Order: sequence, then structure tokens, then C-alpha cells
Amino acid sequence: MSLARPFTTPRPGSYATAPPPVKRRTAGHLQLPRGPRPLIPPALLLKFQRDTPAFLLNLRDTYGDSSSFFLAGQLFIGLFSPAMVYEVTTAQQSSFIKGVGFARMRKVLGEGLLTNEEPIHMRHRRMMQPPFQKSRLNGYATLMTDLTTSQIGAWGDDEVVLLAPAMMRLTLSIVSETLFGTDALRFAEQIGEHMGVAIDRIERTMLPGLDRFDNVPLPYWRKFHESADVLAEIAEELIAERRATIDPDNTTDLLSLLLSLRDEDGSQFTDEEIRDEALTLILSGHETTANMLTWAFSWLAAHPDVMRALQDEADATPWILQGRAPTLEEAMRAEVAGQVLAESLRMAPPVWVAPRRALTDLDICGVKVPAGAHVLISQYVTQRDPRWFPDPHTWEPARWSDDFVSTLPRGAYFPFGAGTRKCLGEHFGLLEARIILLVAAHQVTWEPADPNAPMPKAEPRATYRAAGDVPIRVRRRSGCG
Ligand code: HEM
Repeated sequence: MSLARPFTTPRPGSYATAPPPVKRRTAGHLQLPRGPRPLIPPALLLKFQRDTPAFLLNLRDTYGDSSSFFLAGQLFIGLFSPAMVYEVTTAQQSSFIKGVGFARMRKVLGEGLLTNEEPIHMRHRRMMQPPFQKSRLNGYATLMTDLTTSQIGAWGDDEVVLLAPAMMRLTLSIVSETLFGTDALRFAEQIGEHMGVAIDRIERTMLPGLDRFDNVPLPYWRKFHESADVLAEIAEELIAERRATIDPDNTTDLLSLLLSLRDEDGSQFTDEEIRDEALTLILSGHETTANMLTWAFSWLAAHPDVMRALQDEADATPWILQGRAPTLEEAMRAEVAGQVLAESLRMAPPVWVAPRRALTDLDICGVKVPAGAHVLISQYVTQRDPRWFPDPHTWEPARWSDDFVSTLPRGAYFPFGAGTRKCLGEHFGLLEARIILLVAAHQVTWEPADPNAPMPKAEPRATYRAAGDVPIRVRRRSGCG
């Protein structure tokens, strides 16, 4: 295959034209929510770039549910109450397009579901939904369980395991084998390295205007281009390989579906579209789940009481004891595992911000949002709001007991997004994560390799990653395989 590469492909002409950004010098007449207006604007830029989730949380603590500020001379509005989140993601979603960061992400993922816009998005979403329906997930559970059992089964007694890369490898093998029937593990190192560069550059270069440096021949920028190309090449190779072995009588896996899908008008995906969708699923389908698990394992290591409760649950779980895969329904019955994941997604949401751009003048819960404004809603900020989550900075899985979820207003908890842009792989990711957590809890116990550093530091980039490899010391539980 010799295809146009996402890094150099222009924004498709069928997308809505984004209105021009709102510039500071012309915004004087606008009624904007309060926000920081430093005398030296670059100071704000530095704070924003240094730790964006902390910057946004501080805005909410200082100015309340809405605030405005200018970065690179352009207007940004932060909207943090659950009602505002609901308006942006769902009620008024068609008045927004995806915002800062997504143009950068498009350089890596092309026009896949995460980055594409209408009218392409809904056409692709409709075509790609079937393999992700709940009824289809049971079919993936066996492979998820087998891969988990063999990778965690290889952890030795008293071994120091590098958790972050181990979770990346496991979730990469699950997504590539279940959805594409290919083993992408031989590319794990390359994918890890180039994903790392892409995720770093997407976040650090997302501010308006920085894209003009894309072709500057400096290593920092060149590496972004190179990494995007390598990831596209890997996806193309996986597709070519799978195409060669495809069984025309068995078209149930996702890649066969992508190759055979037809829209109502009979049109099919182009090779570029298939490559971009495959790349999107491989990358968005493993990085997020791996991050969630790295955080969940780390909090468990720092909370031995919760670890014991999880082990008790795993030891009494029929499908674990019978050494078989669960159905989705069985996996979802595991209460402690569910609470551990829900709380980890609350405190360390892998997707921690959803940038949008207003297409027209809007009213969001009384806040006037002018056309062209950058709008930021943030899982990280809203899910740490003490009005809905008492003691919000404490990891407390038991808060998810009983009917806690029903006390939350819509928009208060949205780790998988909402509306038509909601995560396609939510149930896939949760099924896989529950299997990994329960199989691990049954087989091993673990603690931080460095008892003086019980929790890893965050390294928020395009995803909310833990910094470093996150070493843990593993001990095999007696009597368990
Ligand atoms: C813990 C795991 C995961 C989390 C927290 C997560 C989170 C999200 C969020 C927040 C969005 C919406 C982004 C926005 O509104 O701008 C999203 C979209 C998406 N996710 Fe996930 N995701 C996870 C796992 C997965 C998995 C396992 C897959 C696929 C196998 C996947 C595929 C996608 C796709 C294709 C979209 C774009 C959907 C669309 O716009 O139509 N995700 N995800």
C-alpha cells in the first residue's frame, strides 16, 4: 500500500468551516465570564503548558463553573458544571466541532472516528458500531482472558514488574488480536516509542499557531512527523498481513467488516479510511485502558485493604475458579472491581479534557459563548468537584456503593464522554479491564517497588499518563496458578 499520510493530508473540504478564532484585541465588547488577565500574557501560557489539568482545576476553584482567558491571543472559555458539560457534549453538540489538540491528533490518526467530523463521522460511526455492541463482546472475552492469564501468569514470585509498559503490552495485544486477528506485539516497542512522542507533541504543540513550526527542520518537530509516519506504516502493514489471510466465509472480525462495509449508497471505505480507522482503534483502544489499569494497580498497591477485598472477590468468582472466560454480564457483577475502576477513572481520567470550538454564538447555561471561541470541558475538573464527590482528591472506591451513581447529575461523571462522540469502546475497555484486574488479584499480590514513593506522579499529556515505568513488586499467591 502506498497511501497519503495523515501528517500531510489537509482537513477534508466536506467538514464545516471553523469560524475565525475570537482575538483578544477585538473581544472588548463581549460579555465574558471572569478569568485571569495577567499583565504579561506569556506567564499564563507557561502555567497552562506546565500542568494543564492543574491549571484548569485552579480556574474552577478561583472563578467557579465558568471562566475565560486568552492564550496565544485567542479566547478560551472553561465550562465545568455538570449542566454545562451536558449542553456541550449532548444538548448542543451539533453547534461544536472538536477543538484544539484534535487538529494535532489528526496528524497521527488521520480521519478515524476520534478525529473526524460531520458528515464523515456519523457515516463511519454507524458502519463501525456493530462489533462494539454488547451482544458481540462475549465473543472477545475468551481471547482477553487467555492473553491476560498468559501474560500475568509469567510474572515471577518477588519479581519487579514495570507496570506501565506491561499494561501497554497486554492491552495492545488484546485490541489487535480481538479486533484484527493480528498479533501486533512484535511492534509493541515501536508503537510505545512513537505513541509516546505523538502523545507528548499533540499536547505540547496544541496551542493555536504552533503548527507553523511543523516543517521546521529541528529534531523536536521532525520527530513528530517521523513518529506519525511510522505509526501509519505499522497500521498499513498489519492490514496488509491480515488481508492476505482473510477468510471470505468468515467476515466477523472488525477488519473484514471494514473491508466489506457498504453505506446505504453502496460506497465503501477507501484504503486511507480503513487505515485511519484501524490506527484509531489500535491506538485509542489500548493506551487509554492501559493508563486506567496502571493507575488502578498503583492505588491498589497503596491501599492493601482494598486489594484484599478485591482478592476475596476474585477468589469467590465462579469463572475465575473454573478457569474460563466470563460473559459480559458475569464480568459486570464483580462489585469491588467495578468500584476500583470507577474511582480510578474519576481521579485519573485517561481522557481528561474535551476541547471544542463553537460554530455559532451560543448560550450555555447563561454563559455567552461567541462563535469561534475555544471551549474546554474537563473530566479531570468536573469529576473532582466536591459538590458531587465529597473529599474529591481522595481515592475512595467505596463511594461507588449502593445507589451513589443515581445521586449524580448528568454531566458530573463522563470518563467516556457523552453524546454522539461518546467512546465507541467503553464496554470493550471495561470488560477487558475487569478481566485483567480480577485475574491479577487472583494470581498475585503487589506493592510499590519503592515503599517511599507509593503513588506515581502524573504526566498529563494528550492522555493522563503516569510518569515513568511504575515498578511494582509482585508476589505470587500460594495455591493459585
Ligand atoms: C478506559 C478506557 C477508555 C477511555 C477512558 C476512553 C475515553 C474516551 C473518550 C472520553 C472519548 C470521547 C472524546 C471526546 O469527546 O472528545 C472516546 C472516544 C472514542 N474511543 Fe474511547 N476510551 C477508552 C477505551 C476505548 C477502547 C478500548 C476503544 C476501542 C477499542 C476506544 C475507541 C474510541 C473511539 C473510536 C472513539 C471516538 C468515538 C466517536 O467520536 O464516535 N476507546 N474515548
